[in-house]
Amino acid sequence: MVLRLSHRIIRDARATSHLFLAARALGADGVIYTGQRDRTIEATIHEVTKAWGGHFDVTYQPKAAGVLKEWKTGGGDLIHLSMYGLPLQNVVDAIRTSPADKLIVVGGAKVPRLVYDEADWNVAVTSQPHSEISAVSLFLHELFRGQELSKPFEDAELTIMPQVRGKKILRRSGSGGGRDTRHDGSV
Ligand SMILES: C[S@@+](CC[C@H](N)C(=O)[O-])C[C@H]1O[C@@H](n2cnc3c(N)ncnc32)[C@H](O)[C@@H]1O
Repeated sequence: MVLRLSHRIIRDARATSHLFLAARALGADGVIYTGQRDRTIEATIHEVTKAWGGHFDVTYQPKAAGVLKEWKTGGGDLIHLSMYGLPLQNVVDAIRTSPADKLIVVGGAKVPRLVYDEADWNVAVTSQPHSEISAVSLFLHELFRGQELSKPFEDAELTIMPQVRGKKILRRSGSGGGRDTRHDGSV
């Protein structure tokens, strides 16, 4: 599960939706976000999941402190991604070894001190500033050792048939048309 802190509807809409899409594609089972509630993003992610398959939850919680407390009370691990933390390559094996459910926390404009203090691991994906999207993507890729790249997405209405060139999409029967393939990418 990924926790995105302090979402702002106007400024962060694009980054947050891209973060959620990247988390979904790369093996997370859902996201929680704090800050401003954004029903447009929630609807977009639900639509993507319905069309492209798998299970992926989007949950809004007003306060980060409550999410962190509940996660720790439930015995889960808190992993905060921050360029100030320990290098990913040094800690990912230990994180993977822990059997506890994992909450991967990424910031927005300002990350409260509480997050650094409560985290079981503060993890740096390089010690250079970049973005929550790249940080989560690389973290998941290392955590899953690349196996997320071939993760199946059950009950998809749409499935891409990989091509050397062009686009080919399989549409599941009963999802608005017969079972067909198209080469123009229109869906
Ligand atoms: C765009 S950054 C936040 C920048 C903001 N100016 C600040 O100082 O908090 C958003 C989030 O991306 C993640 N992030 C950015 N660079 C990272 C890095 N090198 N390693 C791990 N996470 C990183 C962190 O979770 C951070 O809170």
